[in-house]
Amino acid sequence: MLVSLKDILKKANEGKYAVGLFNMLNLEMARGIIEAAEEEASPVILGVAEVHLPIIPFEYASIIMTHIARNASVPVCLHFDHGTDFDKIMAAADAGFSSVMYDGSALPYEENVRNTRRVCEAAHAKGVDVEAELGHVGTAGVDDSGDYESMYTEAEQVNKFIDATGVDALAVAIGTVHGQYRKTPHLDLNRLANIYKISKRPLVLHGGSGLSDDDFINTVKGGIRKVNICTEMCLAENRVYGEGFQSGRSFEANVVAAKDAVKEVVKNKIRLFGSSAKA
Ligand code: 13P
Repeated sequence: MLVSLKDILKKANEGKYAVGLFNMLNLEMARGIIEAAEEEASPVILGVAEVHLPIIPFEYASIIMTHIARNASVPVCLHFDHGTDFDKIMAAADAGFSSVMYDGSALPYEENVRNTRRVCEAAHAKGVDVEAELGHVGTAGVDDSGDYESMYTEAEQVNKFIDATGVDALAVAIGTVHGQYRKTPHLDLNRLANIYKISKRPLVLHGGSGLSDDDFINTVKGGIRKVNICTEMCLAENRVYGEGFQSGRSFEANVVAAKDAVKEVVKNKIRLFGSSAKA
């Protein structure tokens, strides 16, 4: 069944676990994600990212995703990830998504506030929840060197940002980056603790692929209620197709194996996040 982000995160907060946001780029991923959630009896956030729309056009993604949410035996939140374009974000809201992210994290603070507030006002009027980002979670190999810590979320700004925008969930920068880590990430758990202590809204961790089991356990313990995963599922699919090519496996068998490989990744994450049997 289709549920709101607020509802999923409220329950996660009460139960002190996190729910995974898993982005899909194709049907194998979509099916692997929902099968994993159903087998684990876990709520799930199924997403598509704006940056991937050239690969999977929104018209196709939304049909697949809304079909999945309506027919799933577990609560499913449909999420539009890292939206930067107001019209594309609103198209997701109009297509029946229950949640959208506006990402103004690379912009100056005041501009991020202004744009996030605009998205919140428009999305809330349609009954859709909004996530935004304060601080900046960058990209592996680009943002995780130099003075990357200057992009981390400042606890003092958190409630000011929440009050000024009306956002429902907040993505924070505490040392993760999107994509494949080039060096072992060291997460700033003290910063997370300070943010969690005061934040009026549930906290989101981006760049989940490649973190250690301990990183997940510690950040969920530290108050993270939504963890975003994409790259690790893509790598799992790639590996399966590579192996299939090497061994001469049929294309049909590769498709099924790719879906199952995604499912294994997702099940493993769901268990680490503590959301199994919470549907
Ligand atoms: P990864 O691709 O690093 O898992 O990050 C996913 C993400 O944060 C999507 O918003």
